[in-house]
Amino acid sequence: MDYSIESLSLDKLQSDCLLVGIYENQQLSPAATTLDGLCDGLLSKFIARGDIKGKNAETLLINNVPRAGIERIVVVGFGERGKLTRKLYRKALAAAIKTVKDSKVKAATCALLDIEVEKADISWQTRQIVEVFNEGLYQYCATKKVDDKFPLQQLRIAVTDSLKQQAETGLQQGVAIAQGVDLTKQLADLPGNICTPSYLAEQALILAGQHEKLDCEILEESDMEALGMGALLSVSRGSRQPAKLISLNYQGGDANARPIVLIGKGLTFDAGGISLKPGQGMDEMKYDMCGGASVLGILRAATLLNLRLNIVGLIPSSENLPDGNANKPGDILTSMSGKTIEVLNTDAEGRLILCDTLTYAKKFNPEVVIDLATLTGACIVALGRVPSGLFGNDDKLCDDLLGASEAACDLVWRMPVWEEYQELLKSNFADLANIGGPDGGSITAACFLSRFAEDFRWAHIDIAGTAWRTGANKGATGRPVPLVSQYLLNRVSA
Ligand code: BES
Ligand code: MN
Ligand code: ZN
Repeated sequence: MDYSIESLSLDKLQSDCLLVGIYENQQLSPAATTLDGLCDGLLSKFIARGDIKGKNAETLLINNVPRAGIERIVVVGFGERGKLTRKLYRKALAAAIKTVKDSKVKAATCALLDIEVEKADISWQTRQIVEVFNEGLYQYCATKKVDDKFPLQQLRIAVTDSLKQQAETGLQQGVAIAQGVDLTKQLADLPGNICTPSYLAEQALILAGQHEKLDCEILEESDMEALGMGALLSVSRGSRQPAKLISLNYQGGDANARPIVLIGKGLTFDAGGISLKPGQGMDEMKYDMCGGASVLGILRAATLLNLRLNIVGLIPSSENLPDGNANKPGDILTSMSGKTIEVLNTDAEGRLILCDTLTYAKKFNPEVVIDLATLTGACIVALGRVPSGLFGNDDKLCDDLLGASEAACDLVWRMPVWEEYQELLKSNFADLANIGGPDGGSITAACFLSRFAEDFRWAHIDIAGTAWRTGANKGATGRPVPLVSQYLLNRVSA
């Protein structure tokens, strides 16, 4: 897809498909009003007939426009004027792209920047148009023929001259984030027999090869052995695929600036190990690498934005399978930190691969460490599939992430990591157990991680409920790439 900004006035515009907005009670947007005048009241006629009311996410496709240069018009409803939230703007845009897609046009022009959105500026609106449209156009095709590939190739976003610069900024951010999201989704949607730890490592090397400021190093099991990563290695012992610890280094900032370290859980398939999961829905555990795929997507966005920051991406990647050599309940591991861990449930493997990676992160002298992980089913029980769970040991970092999540419309909700919960991780035989029992499962998982994050400012984002959609529309979402990209953008301007 090619996205661009266009500052032509509507009377000179040529388009296969022009998108304009309407508010509730059939109030046309400024662009729609102009267009109505240029087309002898065509829109007014449709409105008078009651074909569109202007409710949020309503759309009307008008073919056969009696005006040279404009082939089709899509009228998009935004709901009550003056009450349009950022969420509702995105909702209407999603409906708009669906209608454009169904109309099979090759190029479209979007005149939806004149819609008034609460707490939003032109740059934000432009960015959302790109992100939401790109989301609507995503199609998985790695292992399935798509005979009906969407023909839309080009989207021009119309803006008045005075706002062009703001729109360009939003466009650049939108395109970078959309490309990051695309990479994350493509990797996440791949099956476990293709997307193995070795495959992820190759993709990281390819990504690094595309950007001068991005380097990649792959730590092999022998390297992990030498580092004493007993927790990480215990998980991969049950798998025939060798584990990889992917280490990416983006040097966009001053040579001596402390890096932001991003850690992504990269379980390319989680069967639970000896504590085997039930069969129902187990295929979805191919998505247990979404944290890792998000780190790759975020780094892709960061390089495209040329962010003036140093960022380290760490992706511990393994499978979790039952095997004669796999972890057994009751086994005791020695982590890289020296802390011993009693494995009470082999399905709580994410924290095992993450804890050694957190310890490893210390060597980068991080400014902050943020881990992204499909860590617990309990997070879905607690929060559903709307926000990701946010945990951390630093209020400023958590507040910054909350703020970024709202701006990016990629929500998180903060959960406690209080010491009272640490009690639940006590073990008679090791420094800590890898599970905390049935209560507060996403919190005890975070508490476990916190024990390996004592030496730096740290946040943990549990994306179990948000990284992919379940059910008929199953597929990766690319979350939390927009949120973390926004956080990084905010860091640059701070
Ligand atoms: N990858 C899963 C968490 C998960 C489950 C994410 C379902 C999304 C949907 C994780 O490794 C896991 O199995 N966690 C266990 C922890 C339990 C054994 C304490 C869980 O959530 O059941
Ligand atoms: Mn598991
Ligand atoms: Zn898992």
